Amino acid sequence: MALSVVVLAAGKGTRMRSSLPKVLHPVAEKPMVAHVIDAARQVEAANTYVVYGFGGDVLKSKITGDDLTFVEQKEQLGTGHAVDMASPFLTNDEDVLVLYGDVPLTKVSTLQRLIAAKPDNGMALLTVHLANPTGYGRIIRDESGKVTGIIEQKDANAEQLLVNEANTGILLANGGDLKRWLSNLSSDNAQGEYYLTDIIAACHREGKLITTAHPDSEIEVEGANNRVQLAGLERAYQLRKAEELMIAGASLRDPNRIDIRGNVTVGQEVVIDVNCIFEGNVEIADNVVIGANCILKNCRIGDNAEVKPNSIVEDAIIGELASVGPFARIRPGSELKRDAHVGNFVEMKKSTLGEGAKAGHLSYLGDAEIGAKANIGAGTITCNYDGVNKSKTIIGAGAFIGSNASLVAPVTIGDMATTAAGSVIVKDVADSELSVARSKQRNIADWSRPSKK
Ligand code: UD1
Ligand code: CA
Repeated sequence: MALSVVVLAAGKGTRMRSSLPKVLHPVAEKPMVAHVIDAARQVEAANTYVVYGFGGDVLKSKITGDDLTFVEQKEQLGTGHAVDMASPFLTNDEDVLVLYGDVPLTKVSTLQRLIAAKPDNGMALLTVHLANPTGYGRIIRDESGKVTGIIEQKDANAEQLLVNEANTGILLANGGDLKRWLSNLSSDNAQGEYYLTDIIAACHREGKLITTAHPDSEIEVEGANNRVQLAGLERAYQLRKAEELMIAGASLRDPNRIDIRGNVTVGQEVVIDVNCIFEGNVEIADNVVIGANCILKNCRIGDNAEVKPNSIVEDAIIGELASVGPFARIRPGSELKRDAHVGNFVEMKKSTLGEGAKAGHLSYLGDAEIGAKANIGAGTITCNYDGVNKSKTIIGAGAFIGSNASLVAPVTIGDMATTAAGSVIVKDVADSELSVARSKQRNIADWSRPSKK
């Protein structure tokens, strides 16, 4: 059966105290509504209708896709009215799943369970048993246990308020049925709203069946109305991601101290210390150790490599057996080949460090190609920028760059070449040459220091 999704996102979100529409507030740096749309895509919805009320322009600029249609709900007259805004688009031969733009943690497997639960002749509801269901709509069942309706908190009598099976709001119905039921809603209730929940009784009155499915945990159906609740969703999301990594074979020193704002894949025997942040797509191979306080963004870390504490790696490749840090910054376009080593306070940008090459301390390596087994002395700087243009530095295999060198690009240092410490190298150095480019040392005997006048 074809599937469409209607995402309710018209609420203003006053309690966020923000100019940003509520559903654009992020979990793991991604708008809440984008998580919901991702889930819709994973259950293979052909079309997703986003019902918005405020901030339509910013919403449309942040959330895009050929499968999305934005539908305005000018006045917030209730959840039934909101879904009805999408009615002109819905067809009789599809199922329609209603999701909430501020409920970002619903698992795809839960939605699949709801979809599987829907009878051909009826609808399916996602419900949850809560210790304290105050505020939620209650699921009303007859003596045989069949669902007959939902009653909202404000409309419920004392007996109904005792029911602890709550409506999550998420439901699935046939498009034709839904349109018919929505067109007959009334706002004659305690809140004067068009309740989506009234379609359940309408379904029952037509003699159709209402089945239920349930999430694995409450957090899957929780929304965020303020920043405290948003932070709660963030932590729950992060713990879920941490658990996925551990199940995949990584050891996390503390699953409560990791932030994943993208996709991370791990091999076996990976160890991740506390306070690391992962962004974009990060691939970590087998036996990798990531030290505390690292930020890894869009990078690949090879087998047996180590990223030591307080390092930042972005848009880069760290080869197998390579090591980085502590306190290193590997910027976009950089690659460490197998067994290469970068130590503390080394910055690399758009540079390659060949197999087994080393830059142990205090360097800037920009636009540089460094051969296998080369050794870059402490304090070496590639002067890659003349104020206008960027130029390349090429360093051959086995070259030895003495400490505190300035390599003024464009410049090439040959294989097995050596440069003396403190040199300013402006001309190419051939293979196996020694280049000394510094003033000659003079020692003046019996020197008397200046005295105060
Ligand atoms: C709704 C359900 C309730 C359920 C609860 C779960 C109804 C009548 N009640 O109650 O049974 O237990 O959710 O959280 O459906 N929205 C619009 N346009 C509107 C009104 C709401 O887009 O005109 C959106 C809101 O932005 C929000 C969602 O629909 O994302 C739910 O609205 P809300 O007012 O929070 O519904 P509840 O009263 O909590
Ligand atoms: Ca609500």
